[in-house]
Amino acid sequence: MTDHPASTGATSPAVPADLDLDLMEEEARRLIGEMAYAYFAGAAEEEFLLAENTAAWSRRRLHPRILVDVARVSTATTVLGAPLRSPVMVAPTAVHDLAHPDGELATARGAAAAGALLVLSSLATRSCEDVAAAADGAGGGPRWMQVYVLADRGRTAELVARAAGAGYGALVLTVDAPVPGLRRRERRCDVRLPDHLHLPNLDDGRTHEVGQGGFMAAVSRQFDRSLTFEDIGWLAGLAGLPVVVKGVLRADDAVRCVEAGAAAVIVSNHGARQLDDAPPTADVLAAVVDAVAGRGEVYVDGGIRRAGDVAKALALGARAVLLGRPVLWALAAGGPEGVAGLLGAMEAELARVMALCGAPTVADLDRALVLP
Ligand code: FNR
Ligand code: LAC
Repeated sequence: MTDHPASTGATSPAVPADLDLDLMEEEARRLIGEMAYAYFAGAAEEEFLLAENTAAWSRRRLHPRILVDVARVSTATTVLGAPLRSPVMVAPTAVHDLAHPDGELATARGAAAAGALLVLSSLATRSCEDVAAAADGAGGGPRWMQVYVLADRGRTAELVARAAGAGYGALVLTVDAPVPGLRRRERRCDVRLPDHLHLPNLDDGRTHEVGQGGFMAAVSRQFDRSLTFEDIGWLAGLAGLPVVVKGVLRADDAVRCVEAGAAAVIVSNHGARQLDDAPPTADVLAAVVDAVAGRGEVYVDGGIRRAGDVAKALALGARAVLLGRPVLWALAAGGPEGVAGLLGAMEAELARVMALCGAPTVADLDRALVLP
């Protein structure tokens, strides 16, 4: 199924032939209302990096090869040994019940239908067990659990045990939020968790104690700010699951992560939601890949919107990419079918871009295909 004969990008009729993310975002905004939209769309401070993340991918150009046999194109790859039909994964994003009545259950069904890997946020509005059951009911598929280490480490250990029991194959340790970013939009729009929603993978009953500063400011009060590289080994030892460190922007940090036992790193600036003055991920990916030098896998997220962006990320050395906001818009606008449609369209479009670049497999996407 990862084979794309003739590389026309043709795919099942359920997948929109020409996916318009801007239209989908508009539709999502209309359906979910301004508070949820402000939370999902917003970023930190002046939101300078939000635009830069996307622009940095667009600025780079693909430098296509000609006269390569692309009669068959395969987008297939593996991440930590798990086979994937496409290198496009679902990034962990919080509170999907703000986007769809079935919340993360709907996201999981859509990702499973598309055969995509889902990273579940520890700030999900559905329990990791229910999300696993929803995914399995829709054909299964690989899933990883995102973890914010809490000051109360015992509660983090409990979540890790639950995730391991529910078939999550890796832990994604988010390290770029020791304190919340300054979310001006969240403050302005008074973003908070509605009373009827809960965070069953986090809850200690304080979830709704929202003070000033928005949702992220409220939940992050429970995060452990004393986290260091040594804690990677602690987390890996809890259930024996591989640890993927998310929020790496520096080559030296990436090396320390793999030396401390991380199986992979995600080059990420948290979708521009933490430090507005951080670099766009496209600008730092190659240096991280070079420094890690195959000792761990490297993935990237932030502003990836088009199949061309995915091809550039892979050519720069990422093994896979993650989509944040586009999945939220697809979920809000189309539920599970919307999510599956987005992921299916990205896969089909990636096959087209690969054919146009003379790259029949993901291994053929090398650095010479990207102009600086
Ligand atoms: C996030 N992100 C995030 N990351 C994480 O590790 N845990 C989380 O709970 C969340 N929550 C979250 C909520 C929302 C609304 C957004 C937009 C983002 C960050 C996310 O995993 C990812 O790094 C970015 O979203 C990628 O950037 P794009 O694709 O949104 O540009
Ligand atoms: C955010 C958190 C939940 O970015 O990661 O809002």
